[in-house]
Amino acid sequence: MKIAIGCDHGGLTLKNDILDFLAASDLQVMDQGTFSSDSVDYPIFAKKVCDLVASGACDRGILICGTGIGMSMAANRNELIRAALCHEIFTARMSREHNDANVLCLGARVIGSGLALEMIRVWLETKFGDDRHLRRIKMFSKI
Ligand code: RB5
Repeated sequence: MKIAIGCDHGGLTLKNDILDFLAASDLQVMDQGTFSSDSVDYPIFAKKVCDLVASGACDRGILICGTGIGMSMAANRNELIRAALCHEIFTARMSREHNDANVLCLGARVIGSGLALEMIRVWLETKFGDDRHLRRIKMFSKI
């Protein structure tokens, strides 16, 4: 599985923790920045990650900003993206099972890295559910 990851300055430390975590897996990770703590605009990084997922170059994306809110709003402008902003494990799992989320958004100023890493583990492992969910997703998303 190929994962695109991106953040703004508010998400940099958590992104680095996630990169360390994913380095121990067999996943391929494409880091789209940002790479320093200089203030940047999160929509730029949301677009880089979502373009990779929408084109099929990556299977999933992870976006991190201070709250996760801006990233999720920007990501969901792309009709091929189903971005889920989650702060705990249950919704991270359900975003895959019921919503086939292809991008996970995290708020680095909301949750700690221990929780974020466990959410990512669950989110990456959880499969999409059955046809009734597909019918609903097709009502708002290109799939
Ligand atoms: C940047 O200060 C902050 O606004 C951003 O990281 C994010 O929380 C926006 O939704």
